[in-house]
Amino acid sequence: MKEEHWSKRTHYCGTMRREDIGREVILNGWVQRRRDHGGVIFIDIRDVTGLVQVVFNPEISKEAHETAGDVRGEYVLSCRGVVRGRPEESINPKLPTGEVEVMADELTIISASLTPPFEIEEDSDVDEALRLRYRYLDIRRPDLRDSLIMRSRVTGEVRSFLSSRGFLEIETPVLTKSTPEGARDFVVPSRLQPGKFYALPQSPQILKQLLMVAGLDRYYQIARCFRDEDMRADRQLEFTQIDLEMSFVQPEDIISLMDEMFAHLFRETLDIELEIPFPRMTWHEAMDRYATDRPDTRFATEIMDLSGIFTTSGFKVFRSALDGGGRVRGLRVEGLSAPPRRELDGMVEEAQRLGASGLVWAVREGEGLRSPVAKFLSEGEISDLVKEVGLAEGEVIILAAGGRETDPILAGMRDYCTRRYSPAPGKRFSFVWVTDFPLFDWDEEEKRYKSNHHPFTSPSRDSLDYLEERPLEVTSDSYDMVLNGIELGGGSIRIHDPGLQDRVFRLLGLSQQEAQEKFGFLLEAFNYGPPPHGGIAYGLDRIVMLMAGRESIRDVIAFPKTQSGADLLSGAPDAIYPDQLKELRLRPI
Ligand code: AMO
Repeated sequence: MKEEHWSKRTHYCGTMRREDIGREVILNGWVQRRRDHGGVIFIDIRDVTGLVQVVFNPEISKEAHETAGDVRGEYVLSCRGVVRGRPEESINPKLPTGEVEVMADELTIISASLTPPFEIEEDSDVDEALRLRYRYLDIRRPDLRDSLIMRSRVTGEVRSFLSSRGFLEIETPVLTKSTPEGARDFVVPSRLQPGKFYALPQSPQILKQLLMVAGLDRYYQIARCFRDEDMRADRQLEFTQIDLEMSFVQPEDIISLMDEMFAHLFRETLDIELEIPFPRMTWHEAMDRYATDRPDTRFATEIMDLSGIFTTSGFKVFRSALDGGGRVRGLRVEGLSAPPRRELDGMVEEAQRLGASGLVWAVREGEGLRSPVAKFLSEGEISDLVKEVGLAEGEVIILAAGGRETDPILAGMRDYCTRRYSPAPGKRFSFVWVTDFPLFDWDEEEKRYKSNHHPFTSPSRDSLDYLEERPLEVTSDSYDMVLNGIELGGGSIRIHDPGLQDRVFRLLGLSQQEAQEKFGFLLEAFNYGPPPHGGIAYGLDRIVMLMAGRESIRDVIAFPKTQSGADLLSGAPDAIYPDQLKELRLRPI
């Protein structure tokens, strides 16, 4: 075979099927496995589509068989041969190509490989740091490769859907000015203007609003965003948004279009027919029913307000919470019955990890309750509790007394208990819209109001009358899409009236001068005929993570960073040369 035969590839390895039997093929790929069966050598050759078994029989080609003897794992090969059906007993039903094999008559070793530092196998249990250091080998594993393929398809379908709906794909700068998403900025020193810095965008928020002022009507972008914040399984320092903005729209227009976009994405990439419209609930309803604004609605369990039972309770903890304006709320633990003590201790530990000082649990036993607090409760309270909750024999209820500070504990315990005890959810993907978020949150440390979303979010029309009087009661025209308890995206209708924007800035404690310094270019644009507009942005990494059934967005990003922000492959971040520092007028620390 001539050296360049690899350039005449006829097929991809993973595509070989029964229909190809008898066909002459040229395949290129990596050696997954080589088995020498005394005389005949079998090599599984892998490429981006999967792998196929190639057989080297000295009776067909002595030369190819000899070369096959020199091959090791991860060598790159090119071979020519004829596809044939495998003998009945060696059919591998687990492999898409398992009914066939290629009888090779020519083989070239294109390049050799050292022994890889870990086995390149599906779901292999290898230290993540090692995988990140050799990411190009890690990506050869089918699970990671398939996640990246899915990511590419999702991105493609987003583009095709949005462009079919009249959206223009427009790029915005990466070297820009600070944007208001509330995390820390990454900054880049300017050489041409010493002492000055660009900020990398936390999102293209202001720029997309400017594109609406510019009259482009519908914008989208697959946009890289940068936020210097603590990383988690669903957070990276740089991540990708599907970012969009539309003019002359109400929340309803955006929500229903996004329902359609997700139906399209799931149909085209997973062959799943989603039921739309997705259910919606207001922020208040979500907090009441789930104590969180991103409920995992795959599970039916809801938080119950049991305050009514305890209004005259002799139990001090409950009484003082109620007297202080708080509530007594409960969570029935589904799927758990007559638990041993260690399960209950595990719950208490989890609650403490979530920041609670302790946790009240109670197990129904006959007409009474087994609980550390049973002795403080009256018979009437116990029977009312059992009745109201519908607590069956052996079932457990968790109780929390207090104000909003108990929300994260209740929500966290709901997560913990459903994950541990609930039967597997019937629905694989459970979407919900959470709407009408409060416009402001109160920052106790800084003693001031902060935007719940960002400062350009429009208050709902009917709360304009009491904006200044009762800011914390003001809701906004905002919406988040939540999937399986993870916030996929969020957006809002924006303020386009400079007078209203001014009122919101003032409530945020921004003087006119500060507002000018930070966002002057947007405010100025609003003097030139801004259309009403609104939009939304999704975390593409999170969407693909959930679609691919992965646990972390690192599993759907080609080159992610570690918890400490390191890129283990390239070694970034790294020191720079003194000359570079000098050029940028920066001093080493
Ligand atoms: P927001 O800040 O809610 O809104 O971001 C939108 C979505 O981006 C994803 N996301 C992240 N993904 C990975 N790593 C991160 N560090 C990270 N931070 C956010 C989430 C989130 O829902 N400009 C507004 C949108 C708008 O109003 O149109 C914005 O950026 O999935």
